[in-house]
This record gives sequence, structure tokens and C-alpha cells, in this order.
Amino acid sequence: MAILNILRYPDARLHKVAKPVTEFGERIKKLVADMAETMYDAPGVGLAASQVDVHEQLLIVDISETKDELRVFINPQIVWASAEKQVYDEGCLSVPGIYDGVERPAQIKVSALDADGKPFELSADGLMAVCIQHEMDHLMGKVFVEYLSPLKRNRIKAKMLKEERGMEREAALRAAGRRH
Ligand code: NI
Repeated sequence: MAILNILRYPDARLHKVAKPVTEFGERIKKLVADMAETMYDAPGVGLAASQVDVHEQLLIVDISETKDELRVFINPQIVWASAEKQVYDEGCLSVPGIYDGVERPAQIKVSALDADGKPFELSADGLMAVCIQHEMDHLMGKVFVEYLSPLKRNRIKAKMLKEERGMEREAALRAAGRRH
């Protein structure tokens, strides 16, 4: 297994639309294992393949306290959503440190394939419903900050770019330090 690099907003690759998975086998199993290790290490409760620069319709979620209830959703589709909405403070591994309220259907029913390509359906509410919808947005190239006002989004974008420059400077300093 390996820890994968998570793309950071506003990386343009986060806006690519993922293609359906058509072949199941070792490659998908390895991707799921690597994504799970990456998600648990971060730590986070969900991760979409788009976030690790693999633009295929695959996402994982584990909202358990014990971190042993990994769920894999491949080619997921929302087949039903409640009229009732809930607002949840969302965060994202691609937008570290930012949390804000997003309104989404409170209950959903999802149909998807598991890591073996076997179809299943799942009804979800609460945090599980939030996570699945948030990760499915990633597969469509959408990051949760796009639900926020343009003002908030621009502030977040500026903060992320500033942090990125800071990280690049530190890396450059470290590299320079090694040379001397
Ligand atoms: Ni996210």
C-alpha cells in the first residue's frame, strides 16, 4: 500500500469529470487499498479518486469511530433523494482547515458497485448521506467550496494559494539547506 498525494484546491485537476470504471481487478483493488491508507492517514472520513488525480468514478467512506467500516462506491448513482434537507459543516482533504455549512438532501438512496464489481444499494442519512454526496460531487469535478458565496470562495482560494507558496518556500529552503 502507499499514501497518495491529495490534490489541493484550487488545483484545476479537481475539476475533471471522472469516467465510469469498466474493468475490475487488481488495479482497482490496489487503488482502493492506497486510497484507504491515504484517507486514514490524513485523517478523513471520505475520499474520491479525483482527489488523488485518478479520474474514475470511485469513492470511499468510513465514518466509524473505529475506522474499520470502509465502504467502497464505484460508479455510484443517487436513485432517490429526500425533499427534506440538512445543513452540515463540511470539510475536505483537498481544502484543509476550511469548514462551512452546505445544504443537501437529508436522506438518499445510492446504487453502486463494490470493489469486486458487485452491485448494491444503500440508504443513508446523517453524516453518511453528507459524505456520499460530497464525494460524488468530486467525481463530477465539484469541490464543496463551490456551494459557498463567491466572496467566501475567493477568500478560501487566496488562503490556499498563500499556504501553497509558503509550503514551496519551505521546501526550497530545505533543499538549499541540504546543499550547504
Ligand atoms: Ni472533499
